[in-house]
Amino acid sequence: MKTIIEPFRIKSVEPIRFTTMEERRALAKDAHYNLFSLHADDVLIDLLTDSGTSAMSAAQWGAVMNGDESYAGSPSFERFEGAVRHLMDFKHIIPTHQGRAAEAILFSILGGEGKKVPSNTHFDTTRGNIEATGAQAHDLLIAEGKDPSNLHPFKGNIDIERLDAFLKEHGDAVPCVMITVTNNAGGGQPVSLANIRETAATARKYNLPFIIDGCRFAENAYFIKQREEGQGDREIADIVRDMFELADGMTMSAKKDAFANIGGWLALNDDELAQKARNRLIMTEGFPTYGGLAGRDLDAIAQGLSEIVDEEYLKYRVRSNAYIVERLDALGVPVVKPAGGHAVFVDARSWLHHIDPLQFPGQALAVALYEMGGIRACEIGTVMFGRAPDGSEKPAAMDLVRLAMPRRVYTQSHADYIVEVFEELSATKDKLPGYRITEEPQAMRHFTAKFAPI
Ligand code: F0G
Repeated sequence: MKTIIEPFRIKSVEPIRFTTMEERRALAKDAHYNLFSLHADDVLIDLLTDSGTSAMSAAQWGAVMNGDESYAGSPSFERFEGAVRHLMDFKHIIPTHQGRAAEAILFSILGGEGKKVPSNTHFDTTRGNIEATGAQAHDLLIAEGKDPSNLHPFKGNIDIERLDAFLKEHGDAVPCVMITVTNNAGGGQPVSLANIRETAATARKYNLPFIIDGCRFAENAYFIKQREEGQGDREIADIVRDMFELADGMTMSAKKDAFANIGGWLALNDDELAQKARNRLIMTEGFPTYGGLAGRDLDAIAQGLSEIVDEEYLKYRVRSNAYIVERLDALGVPVVKPAGGHAVFVDARSWLHHIDPLQFPGQALAVALYEMGGIRACEIGTVMFGRAPDGSEKPAAMDLVRLAMPRRVYTQSHADYIVEVFEELSATKDKLPGYRITEEPQAMRHFTAKFAPI
């Protein structure tokens, strides 16, 4: 059969509330054109994030009832630990309440004034947690990864030559080498197994630990299976094992590729590092057998991990995004290609070329998608990255809008609707206004800034 169908049937549903364009215009204005300020009830299709928004399976809800809430030594922890270790065989698995908590613990130990941490592209919470310790976060993505239309199969790869030169120059100041799979900030693009292997070898050459931010590990493994030579006949779980066998540790947000609504972990092989991490965990998250989670959350994650490596699911997942990308491309909407694993990224700067980057074309498009169709997306551009610590403004490298797809939540007719909204917008896009900021906080302004149309 040609059609790739959703590999599930629906047992429990949530209604979505319909609004008119007129209502949405008023709601956007009331929210000062910041879509984070909208009530979720006023959103028709919520593509703000794929994080924590997955639909859990009946088996996961069943597992929730089996959660054991003992403070210490809970069997839920054993199930969680076993499920993680089945895919990522690290010696120490330390649960946390979400990904950034794992990052905060790791860099409270490895970070510090003068340290430098290289990666393909750090996600913003990783960067934030590194910088909060006085260290610097460095992105060493391959050049192809920054070109929205370049069809390189692994645009999330780190530039090994630059990494080697970086470690040669700064080796003593580098506490670890990182890589993020898939590269969220760069369009959900995958990293090849060969690149992970070379990164591990390069880190080893300088005697440094290699840590993977594994948030979207299953999507990454699926891309490896599809695109990397010699990987086509392998099981997804085996590819995942290969990816993590090369690393000395990982940080993880279970809100992504574990189908959970909350959770994460830090995994490490080094005993001394793990002991320091657990001490910190007890202070900030909780006892090492629950780490800021309820026993039921640990069980939901354990079950989710057995479901996420299902190839039929991953095929549908990746195809859903590719379908939207192909249709938007056909409409002449500039999109990041090839399609990423968890989101569709639209190049707003190029589509709304009449809007100067300092008047936030990504924000303009995100607001227009909401007003026109009730779709909530996220600007990833000059609003997010444009302000330097000294208060000056400069355009970000790109002005993208991310349509992040919650897992197992929307169907193909939702996808068709999304495309239709873009089609409608095509007719009037040249009249969309740019925006100025009327109020903003010191840092992470995209969450709370207020805007006005120009
Ligand atoms: N690393 C990556 C690559 C991420 O995408 C995220 C979260 C984190 C770490 C932090 O995990 O949210 O559990 O603390 N990304 C979400 C997003 C928020 O919308 O892309 P967390």
